[in-house]
Amino acid sequence: MSKRKIVVLGMGIIVQALVACGKQTPAEPAAAAPAPEPAAAVAAAAPVNELGKSVYGKTCAMCHAAGVAGAPKPGNKDDWGPRIAQGNDTLYKHALEGFTGSKGMMPARGGSTSLQDGDVKAAVDFMVAQSH
Ligand code: HEC
Repeated sequence: MSKRKIVVLGMGIIVQALVACGKQTPAEPAAAAPAPEPAAAVAAAAPVNELGKSVYGKTCAMCHAAGVAGAPKPGNKDDWGPRIAQGNDTLYKHALEGFTGSKGMMPARGGSTSLQDGDVKAAVDFMVAQSH
């Protein structure tokens, strides 16, 4: 008999616990405010040709990014392969002095005469690095 009493008592506790739970407010939306991501620790990973990237973005991308007038797009290995094979000196010369090839006309310094030689070369390096 006493065993049965314990079972009933136990059931009572469980029921009470369930009722108590039911009264509690729904679980907090814990996922609503995730902890802020650790600041871009990745940024320092690889050395980036910042100068070339900036010059490219300001001056060269207007033709090269979309392949306007036959400009070779960075990352287009088929187009860049034979150009890279000429060697950097030729690419620099063509970028600095201008160049007319079978596809179109590359204006000297991309048409931006205020660019220093180093700026233009950095931009060439930037495009070449994406096109190997
Ligand atoms: C007005 C459009 C235009 C702008 C701006 C421009 N390019 Fe070009 N570029 C071309 C075209 C078109 C070609 C392809 C010419 C061909 O092969 O017929 C080319 C080709 C090149 C080549 C390959 C040359 C070779 O020997 O194959 C390099 C390197 C280059 N551009 C660098 C640059 C750099 C660096 C800038 C920015 C400073 C720049 N270009 C801005 C149109 C442009």
